[in-house]
Amino acid sequence: MTILLARSAGFCFGVKRATRMAFEAADSHDGICSLGPIIHSPQLVEKLEEKGVVVVHAVKDIPEGAVIIRSHGVTSGELKEINARDLEVVDATCPFVKSAQDYAALLSREGYGVVLVGEREHPEVQGILSYAASGDVFVVAAPDEAEAIPRRKRLGLIAQTTQSFETLRQVADICLKKCQELRIFNTICDATSVRQEEAREIARKSDLVLVIGGFNSANTTRLAQICTEIQPRTHHIETAEQLRAEWFQGVVTVGITAGASTPRWLIDEVIHRVRNISN
Ligand code: F3S
Repeated sequence: MTILLARSAGFCFGVKRATRMAFEAADSHDGICSLGPIIHSPQLVEKLEEKGVVVVHAVKDIPEGAVIIRSHGVTSGELKEINARDLEVVDATCPFVKSAQDYAALLSREGYGVVLVGEREHPEVQGILSYAASGDVFVVAAPDEAEAIPRRKRLGLIAQTTQSFETLRQVADICLKKCQELRIFNTICDATSVRQEEAREIARKSDLVLVIGGFNSANTTRLAQICTEIQPRTHHIETAEQLRAEWFQGVVTVGITAGASTPRWLIDEVIHRVRNISN
């Protein structure tokens, strides 16, 4: 069996940065917590917990001392609450997420109705939205939802960093019919599009695709969808233990990719187990 491993599999720049900051902060502080899990990898969160990083889910639950803000960022309200409590902040918000937050603020300030392409409930989306202070915002998860956007003189379009370029373009097409002026900031992160394009390439060449990453990770789930469309024999797994020998019947080439929050050691374990299955 041949294994095709995507070059872009695993940690992206923002996650690498957040993880490094979290481990460094754990080493230099006695008590520290993160507001929500640092990244969508339960396995990595567990490792951080062993180093004393406690996950809390609301600012009021932060005991005292220091708090790590994860790569998805936080809402402007949470940031205000944190600052009001005089906590030490280790801000690991990915600079690309930060820039989407800044564009939301700018568009809102300049009187645009803000259209955000993304998953409504995702913390990153919630964070970005909160910076559009006017409250004139529309979140669309898919192009058909954009049809419901009311007419506006001016619309500003941004996207959750993990969205696909094609979705953004389709929403832009619909928005064009809804306003006189459309301003677009492409806030999709390069890491995502590169990873998605590579996943497509690998899926085309493989008889079976394994997508490794947290089941709660939006970008991993999207990768799995993309691969499934091309190669229905695609499995989204979190760990090597979830591999089933029967998946590999008649398989010559296995494609492997992984989400932005998947640690390298998990990828290596999967490769190792696939090799064992094929022997
Ligand atoms: Fe940042 Fe892009 Fe990763 S937005 S967290 S570098 S997927």
